[in-house]
Parts: sequence; structure tokens; C-alpha cells
Amino acid sequence: MPGGVNSPVRAFKSVGRDPLYIAKAKGSKIYDVDGNEFIDYIGSWGPMIHGHANERIIDAIKGAAEDSTSFGASSEKEIVLAKLVKKFVPAIEMIRMVNSGTEATMSAMRLARGFTGREKIIKFEGCYHGHGDSFLSKAGSGVATLGLPDSPGVTRSTAADTLNAKFNDISSVEILVEQHRGSIAAVFIEPVAGNMGCVMADKAFLQALRDLCTAEGIVLIFDEVMSGFRVARGGAQELYGINADLTTFGKIIGGGLPVGAYGGRSDIMQLIAPAGPVYQAGTLSGNPLAMTAGIETLLSIDEDPDFYKNLGDACEYLYDGLRSNLTELRLDYTINACGSMFTLFFSGEEVTDFDSAKTSDTAKFAAYFNQMLNNNVYLPPSQYEANFISNAHTRDDFDKTIAANYAALKAINK
Ligand SMILES: Cc1ncc(COP(=O)(O)O)c(C=O)c1O
Repeated sequence: MPGGVNSPVRAFKSVGRDPLYIAKAKGSKIYDVDGNEFIDYIGSWGPMIHGHANERIIDAIKGAAEDSTSFGASSEKEIVLAKLVKKFVPAIEMIRMVNSGTEATMSAMRLARGFTGREKIIKFEGCYHGHGDSFLSKAGSGVATLGLPDSPGVTRSTAADTLNAKFNDISSVEILVEQHRGSIAAVFIEPVAGNMGCVMADKAFLQALRDLCTAEGIVLIFDEVMSGFRVARGGAQELYGINADLTTFGKIIGGGLPVGAYGGRSDIMQLIAPAGPVYQAGTLSGNPLAMTAGIETLLSIDEDPDFYKNLGDACEYLYDGLRSNLTELRLDYTINACGSMFTLFFSGEEVTDFDSAKTSDTAKFAAYFNQMLNNNVYLPPSQYEANFISNAHTRDDFDKTIAANYAALKAINK
């Protein structure tokens, strides 16, 4: 396997060691093949909001498997999950299930082009929208971690149709719209970015983006693969009170099984085949195991009206502890947090975009990561990723993490 992994973010290349090979995980803990136990802040990069191997979800998956792992045909579970998503995110008038976040964003891009008859898209530096050719320019996540500005293999003409703007800077978008008036099909944004570390869009910026897209007939696409069902019940759209035209989902919607989805305004979604001419298909799309995991994940949230408040309050205890450590050690690093997502940036600057994220001292991050791992805390192996907390994390986990954080920061700043 190239680099020993099936997805680059799993490699520990940027932190100078070999990746762990995982044997199992339960609740907030993950265990490597050598039997070591770690407190897990990766959470499979977002999906495990109820912790690993949640009994209700696992039992439901087992039950569904008895009825076959795939039909390649429509089933009731797809309708149940679609209705749940619509209940959580009212802007979703119609939805199409796919198998990954990448598939969701690529399909949403084709749809926006089909709807507008335009070809160019705008994205933001440091945002990651999966590995579709059009998105691999100045992208976040593993692309940023490995320091790859663009990817070989993307044709010049594809690259030319992607325009990059600066996150939280509406004038950078206005300039591109002015320069390419009438050619821009869509603006893609992670409203709460997780792929340059955790960076929230400013509300006024997001509203201005909404207004600009409406005025110019551009399809505004919120990529909520990470933020969906994470930062609030209705994702970033609820948090900001701003609706997108189309939204992409992944991760939590599949409860840890491979699912993505895209949806939104029905006048746009009606163009998808077989209702309309924009083609998009999938042998395993909406498969019963993945739908079951998604349904149980969302139902477990739905049944607890205080789910996000309780999770957020629990996380504040950890953030307070981490902030006190910084104060006590007289370090000016920056903690960005949004609900149960957070990043400790090894930078004294306020981090509001990709440029400020890149002021972080990544060598120091690597040293910190290694210290934390040696203290049995499993963090994303990159400065440009978010940590994820589940409702299975306990006070004891947080106390241990705060103590490990203090020791690690002290050791690397001797
Ligand atoms: C915001 C966002 N969009 C798209 C993707 C791609 O999703 P997947 O890895 O399921 O293809 C990711 C993955 O991390 C993501 O964070």
C-alpha cells in the first residue's frame, strides 16, 4: 500500500513516525495491535459522535446484515434516513445518498454546473472537499499536511476552472465574481472548516457570501461533511441561521459506515437522473447497513433534546483545562473550538484563515503529538486537522488529556 496506508491522513509522515495499526475501539478508547490503549480524539475523522462500537448502532447493523448487506434496489431505510436528515436540516428539500463525502461534493459540483450552465467554481484556500480533481488546489487536510499545493494528474483545463478565494474575506470572492461574471456555477465552503484545523467562518462573511451568490445566480454549497450533525443539530446552517442552496454530508450521517449525501433546493435537485438529465449513480448507494448505522446515529441524537448542549458543556471542561495550561506555562498558542471540534494551533496569532493557520510551528506540533501519543492520547497527526470529541468521552478522559497536555507542552518548551 502506498505509504503503508489507504488514506494519506492516516500516515504519521509529518510527525516523523510510523502510524499505529488499530485492532479495535470502544467508546472513547482505541487500541493498537500491540494492545496499547489510547484516548481517541480522531473519532474516525468525525463520524463517531456516539463513541466507538456504540451498542445500539452495532446491534442494529447486525440485525440489518441478517437481511442482506446490499439489495441494489430501493428500501424503506433510505426513506427513513432521508426524512431524518430533512427534520434536522430543513433546507434539505430533496436528497441523494452516495458512498463518501468525496462523491457528495463531486456530484454537487456537476449538479451546480448542470443547473447554471456555467463551468467555474470558487472554493476557499485551506478548505478540503474530498479528492475530486477540481478540489485539489490549495486544499486543506492531507494535501496541506503533505505540503502539496496541487496534485499531478489534474489536467490544466480542470485546474483552470477552480478559483481560490480567501476564507473569511468577502472582497476576495467579489473580485473573482467580478472577473468571471456569468461563468461561476458554485461557491463551495466549509462553513466551520475542519481541514486547516478548526476555523469558523465569521457570520457577517457567510451572510455576505449568501447575498452575493443569490444576487449572481451562483449555487452556494455548504460542505457539511464534517460540520453536519456535529456543530449543531442542523449543522452550520442552524448555527449561523444561513441556508445553502445545496449541502453535502458525510461522516456522522453514516454512523461510521461509508455514506455521503447531497441535497437542498428541490428545483436544483430535480435535475438529477432519473428525474432530470444530470447523471449520477451508485451500485451501493443507500445500502441497508449504512442506512441503518445512519438512522440509529441520528435517532440517538433526536431522542435527546439536550444532546448538543450536554456535549458542548462537557467539551468546555476540556477547553478550559487546555487554556489554563497555556496560561500557566505562559504560552500564547491559539485554541479554536466549535462545539465538539477543536484545534490547538502552535501559533500566537488568531487563526481565521489558511494563511494564519500556516503561521503555526509544525515542528513543535510534531514534537507535541509524539509526547501526547507517548502519554496514550491519540490526536490527529497534523496541525491542519480538527480533534473530535464524542459523548462517550468522560471527565476522567479529559483530566488525563489535560495532564498529558501540560506535560507535553512543558517538555517541548524547555
Ligand atoms: C469537509 C469535507 N468534505 C469532503 C470530505 C471528503 O469525504 P470522504 O473522505 O468521505 O471522501 C471530507 C473528508 O474529510 C471533509 O472533511
